[in-house]
Amino acid sequence: MDFILQKIEDLRAQLNEHNYNYYVLNAPVISDIDFDRLMKELQDLENQHPQYADTNSPTQRVGSDINKSFKQVAHKYPMLSLSNTYTIGEVSDFYNRTKDLLNADFQIVGELKYDGTSISLTYIDGKLVRAVTRGDGTQGDDVTDNIKTIRSIPLQLRGTDYPKEFEIRGEVLMPWGVFEKLNQEREAQEEPLFANPRNAASGTLKLQNSSIVASRQLDAYLYYLLGENLPFDSHFENLQAARSWGFKISDATNRLSSLSEINEFIRFWDVNRKNLPVATDGIVFKVDSLLQQKNLGYTAKSPRWAIAYKFQAERAETRLNYVSYQVGRTGAVTPVANLDPVQLSGTTVRRASLHNADIIESLDLHIGDMVYVEKGGEIIPKIVGVNTDARFMIGEKVGFISRCPECNTPLIRYEGEAAHYCPNETGCPPQIKGKIEHFISRRAMNIEGIGTETVDLFFRLGIIKNVADLYVLNINQLSQLDRLGEKSARNITESISNSVNVPFERVLFALGIRFVGETTAKKLAYAFKNINNIKNATEEELVVVDEIGTRIAQSVISYFKDKRNLEQIDRLKEYGLKFEISQEQISRNTNRLQGATIVISGTFIHHSREEYKMLIEQHGGKNTGSISGKTDFLLAGSNMGPAKLEKANKLGVKIISENDFLNMIES
Ligand code: IVH
Repeated sequence: MDFILQKIEDLRAQLNEHNYNYYVLNAPVISDIDFDRLMKELQDLENQHPQYADTNSPTQRVGSDINKSFKQVAHKYPMLSLSNTYTIGEVSDFYNRTKDLLNADFQIVGELKYDGTSISLTYIDGKLVRAVTRGDGTQGDDVTDNIKTIRSIPLQLRGTDYPKEFEIRGEVLMPWGVFEKLNQEREAQEEPLFANPRNAASGTLKLQNSSIVASRQLDAYLYYLLGENLPFDSHFENLQAARSWGFKISDATNRLSSLSEINEFIRFWDVNRKNLPVATDGIVFKVDSLLQQKNLGYTAKSPRWAIAYKFQAERAETRLNYVSYQVGRTGAVTPVANLDPVQLSGTTVRRASLHNADIIESLDLHIGDMVYVEKGGEIIPKIVGVNTDARFMIGEKVGFISRCPECNTPLIRYEGEAAHYCPNETGCPPQIKGKIEHFISRRAMNIEGIGTETVDLFFRLGIIKNVADLYVLNINQLSQLDRLGEKSARNITESISNSVNVPFERVLFALGIRFVGETTAKKLAYAFKNINNIKNATEEELVVVDEIGTRIAQSVISYFKDKRNLEQIDRLKEYGLKFEISQEQISRNTNRLQGATIVISGTFIHHSREEYKMLIEQHGGKNTGSISGKTDFLLAGSNMGPAKLEKANKLGVKIISENDFLNMIES
C-alpha cells in the first residue's frame, strides 16, 4: 500500500480510538494538545492528498457521545466546535485575519472557555421545552429531564422581552467543591472515581435516574444564542439580555477593541481563573456583530468568527526523591515518582504517575532531578519533563525494576504493550486480592457486603486465599471478626450463596482471565457453550470467534494450562457455580440468519450496536465491518454515513431498518 495512505489510515484509526475513549467511555488516554496535533496532521495529509478523502474520516465529524437510552433529537443548528490555539501569536493571527476579511471596524468578545459538557436548550414562549447534548454535532441525546434538575437553568424565563422561540447553548459543569465531595463519597463506597469535573458532569447528565442527577448539584453557564429574532446584532448585548431573562451568564465576559486588550484579558484570566468555583480550560474570542459573524461564515468544522485559546496546564517544579512501583490487579506494574511536596492547582502533590518504562526512558530521569509536574485537568498529576539546567550533580539513572516488588517474580513485557507485568497471577498478593475484588464485583458475581478493606482483612487473616475459599465462609467465623457484626456476616454469606445462580458468561468474566472482558466472556460462552470446550479449544478454534485475536486466544490457553486455575474451577463447580450456558440461553438461538453477512451502520433506538452484533451471531449470521460484494444486508440506523449508503446502493446490497431486522429474527 502507498506509504501516505497507510499513514492516513493509521491516524484515522488512532483518532477514532481516542474519540471513542473521550466521548463514549469518558476516559481519554491522551491530552487535548496531543489529540489536536494528531488531528492536524491528518487534516494536512488529507488536504495534500485529496484522492484519499473519506466522508467517514474523523476529520469529518466533531465526535459522538450518543447513548442508546435517550431519545435522539436532530439539532436545528449544528453544534460545531472551535479551532484551538495555544499561543498569543496564534490569537493575533486570528485577529489580523479577521480584520483583513471584514475590512471594517469590529469588536471581539472575550469569554472564559468552561470545561464541562455542552448543552443546547430550546425555549418557546419563555418555557424550556428541550435540552439536547452535543452528540455528533448533528443530533444528540434528549436529556431534558436531567437538565431540569439543574437549578441555575430557568424553566420559565423572567420578563417578557425574549424572542418567541430561540436556542441557547452553554456548558454544564460540576463545581470543584461538589466534585471533590462526590469523589470522597465514591471512595468510601469503593466506587471508581471520576478523573475530573468534566467527566463527572457528562457522566451525571447521562444517568437514567434524574433524581440522582438532582443530588449532584450541577451548574450551567450559557454563552451562545441562536434564533431568527434575537434582540440585538451584538452577541455581547444578547448575552446581557439573556442574563436579564434569568440565565447564568459569566461575569468574565468583556468587549475588547484591540490586540492589547485581548492580551490583557488573557493575562488576567490565566491567573484569576484559579479562584473560580468551576473548571476552565481556556478563553474563547468571538466577533461581536452577528452580521459580521455571518459574513465571516464557517469552515467545515468550526466558525471563522471565533477561536479558542487554551491555557497551558498548570505546572510546578520539584525534586524527584525516589521511584516506587505499584502492582495492580492484572499484574501491571506502574512506576510512581515520589516528590518533595509542592503546591499545584490548590493541592499538595507528593506523588506523580510515570506510566511505564518507555516514558521514564524518554524523560532521561535521574534521582534528585528537578522535574516539572502537570495536572492538566486530571486528578493524578504527571511528570512532563526535567529541568536539566538545575542538575548540578547527576544522580542515579532511573531504570525499571526487573522483579516484582511484591513477590520477587521476574517481570515480563508482552509484545506491543507498554506495561511490565508480574506473571505470578496466583501467588502475588495484590493480584490475588485484585482477582477476588474483581470476582465479587457487581458486573461479575455481584457479591455484596465485601469491599477492598474486607478483602484485605480476609486475605491477611488467611481466611481466603483465592475466590473458591469464599464459598466455604460461614456466619460464625465471620461474625467473630472485630469489624463485622452478625448482620453483615449474614448478608455476606447470603449474597455468596445466591451468587451460584449467576449465568455462565458472567462466571467466565469473573474468573479474571487476562484480556477477557465482559464482551469477550459472552462471546466465548456462546461460541463454546461450556468451560470444558473452552479449556480444550486450540488457538485456531478460538480465533474463529468474532473479535477474538491471537492475544486473547493465547491468554485463554495459558490460563487453562495452569494447574492451579483448573483446581480452582473444579472447586467452584463443586460449590454449584454455573459452568455452562443454560438451556434457556441456548433456546434463544436460532438459525434464522444462517449464512447471512450483515454490516451495521448508524445509531439505533431499541438496542446498542454491540447488542445487534450479539443478536446477529445468536441467530447464525455474521457481522462484518465494511460493505463488499459478499454483504447480504446493511442494517441501517439513523445518521448513517453517506459513503456507506452510496456503496450499498452501488453493490445492490439490501438495506434493512432496525424494525425489519427485529421482525426477521422474531418471525
Ligand atoms: S462558543 C460555534 N463559548 O467549547 C461555537 N464554547 O470547542 C460555539 N465552550 O463545544 C461554542 N466555553 O462546549 C463557546 N464561552 C464559550 C465556551 C464554549 C466552553 C465549549 C463548548 C464547545 C467547545 C468548542
